Amino acid sequence: MKLIFSSTSPFARKVRIAAIELGLIDTIELVPAALAPGKPNDDYSRDVNPLKKLPVLILDDDSVILDSYVIVEYLDEIAGGRKLIPASGPARWRIKTDHSMAQGILDSMVLCRYEKAARPKECYWQAWADDHWQRVWAGMAHFDRQSDLLSRPLDVAQIALTCVLGYADFRFADSGWRKAYPNLVAFHDKMMQRPSVKISAPPAA
Ligand code: BEZ
Repeated sequence: MKLIFSSTSPFARKVRIAAIELGLIDTIELVPAALAPGKPNDDYSRDVNPLKKLPVLILDDDSVILDSYVIVEYLDEIAGGRKLIPASGPARWRIKTDHSMAQGILDSMVLCRYEKAARPKECYWQAWADDHWQRVWAGMAHFDRQSDLLSRPLDVAQIALTCVLGYADFRFADSGWRKAYPNLVAFHDKMMQRPSVKISAPPAA
């Protein structure tokens, strides 16, 4: 299998952490790709993903799996045992919902990042950026209160939340989340003790 990824993508990091935790990383060739907002990449759009997004998993028969959540679910299934996403029952829907919340936070953070780093300065939309940052902040506040989520055995939602916090440190180091959300800091510190989380951390900004 091949994973098309970028070392700075929090979505790709989620898949890399999951692959390591599931013992599958050695079966996956990591193929770096650079996809910039506002710049077409016709080859990638035609041959890999019309949505021009990362990460993408390409199986040995050349079929393509996306997005990051579906890739994790696929890996969880082929690893056997359903370690990161329960196959059924209330826990499945709890964990999938928690994951959707973390994913939504990431989506808003990336929109804020692009608004600042990619959009021409004269087009910057402050109210849009503020609205999305408010969603990030409220989402973090929500997770800071979830003592059960922060302490339960490893699952895909916790991995996604770890990627949220790592991305906050990476792209929004001055945001103050560490002061505002002490329970998330303790959770992040605990997660950083896992080799999968440590080795996949984004490079220095
Ligand atoms: C980033 O470099 O901030 C980034 C890369 C890929 C997806 C999202 C964000």
